[in-house]
Amino acid sequence: MRQFLAKRTQSRQQNKLRDLIVGVDEKIPLEDGRFIKGINFDNAATTPPFKSVLTAIEQFAPWYSSVGRGKGYKSTRSAEIIERTRINVLSFVGGKENQHEVVFTKNCTESIHLLSHIRHQTTDKRIILVSEMEHISNDLPWRTHFEVEYIAVNEDGQVSLQNLQAKLAALQGQVALVSITGASNVTGSINPIYEAAELTHRYGAKIHIDAAQFVPHETIEMIRLNPAENIDFLSFTGHKLYAPFGTAVLIGGKDDFREAEPMLKGGGTVQIALKSFVQWNVAPERFEGGTPNVMGIVALNTAIRTLQQLNLETIKEYEQQIMSYTLDKLRTIDGLRLFHALDDNLPQVSVLSFAMNGLHHQDIAHILAGEFGISVRAGFFCAYSCVQKLLQLSDERMDQIRNDPGIPSPGLVRISLSFYNTFAEVDQLAGALQQITSRKEYYAKKYEDVPKGICGRPRTDE
Ligand SMILES: Cc1ncc(COP(=O)(O)O)c(C=O)c1O
Repeated sequence: MRQFLAKRTQSRQQNKLRDLIVGVDEKIPLEDGRFIKGINFDNAATTPPFKSVLTAIEQFAPWYSSVGRGKGYKSTRSAEIIERTRINVLSFVGGKENQHEVVFTKNCTESIHLLSHIRHQTTDKRIILVSEMEHISNDLPWRTHFEVEYIAVNEDGQVSLQNLQAKLAALQGQVALVSITGASNVTGSINPIYEAAELTHRYGAKIHIDAAQFVPHETIEMIRLNPAENIDFLSFTGHKLYAPFGTAVLIGGKDDFREAEPMLKGGGTVQIALKSFVQWNVAPERFEGGTPNVMGIVALNTAIRTLQQLNLETIKEYEQQIMSYTLDKLRTIDGLRLFHALDDNLPQVSVLSFAMNGLHHQDIAHILAGEFGISVRAGFFCAYSCVQKLLQLSDERMDQIRNDPGIPSPGLVRISLSFYNTFAEVDQLAGALQQITSRKEYYAKKYEDVPKGICGRPRTDE
């Protein structure tokens, strides 16, 4: 009875949150042509929009205009919303107007490319420390200008502080930046970012947190009570924060942006450009080449305000509850191997991955979508080293898999929940997985044409 009442309270609270999101009750087609209400458990890739975001876009549209040098009333309003959003972004991440710049980009990948470009010009140090649990967007951008070294991940699925310290000590004076994710996009593990910042600063280096998976779930503080724990650079993206329309941010200290040349040179980035002479604009405009995406900025601003009104603590509490409910449910299914923060006491966002004995991960994702209307993601989730390690695949084995199209690619299925997902949806997922495990041969045959290459791409023979 107590469990029933708790579930009913949760579901009432939950309905209010669900009401804030666009498209949650939309019907989608199944393989057999029937339409049912879709379930989205792929929120770590992209979240649906807040209703408030669409309303704000519509309300702002009559005032939308050119920005930059336009002096008309509408231009001024458009310019104002851009500047106001920079301030609101800083209040969201605990930054300060007189200390930080907020640069608008199109996604987190671009933010990290920009940071790589800026660090390349502003430091002689040539090594970047990233971890073995990074999304490739926090790895590949560094390889162009720097040598990349990898910090180990410990048994708990977090960046190993011990290994970070050993690397910082061994490479003292050479580390241009430590760049780690706030939370894993595969297991949901939250990293000890403030401890990592303190260690990094102790060895005279700076730290960037890729907060793409962190800020939708957790409060972040760029400025800490203990300044040694401050975050020097931060990036995150609107499309994982209920704000589509293509705006993300890179935030850093004013001094860190002062010297570098723009990455995208062109309109907005200069004070004056003659044939023989260019004077760059000040930051942040210097790094926002071309016409700004005003509507994307309106969307991000509104999503941040909506999240602040909701209170991230409320969201977190609900997501923790639904996450442990999901774990309990999935643990009852035979033959599932779960990958998440190993112990429930470890900090974790609402993301987990799993493998099912005897069925390919791409088949599972297709079956869930085609038979049950449940959207998930399967493969490596752009975190190749992380999944390789979780599946205990040696480099030699990965080479064999890459070179032999006859070997089905390994990988995992990922479930990523948001505060608008319901306990009933989790029940449906568990029911679907139960059914899949009990009819593996039937489904494997039915979905045998599903491509089994890396991340669901056809193998070269398909
Ligand atoms: C941890 C992490 N970092 C970076 C990215 C890249 O973000 P974007 O798609 O906005 O470039 C992702 C996307 O999934 C991610 O999960």
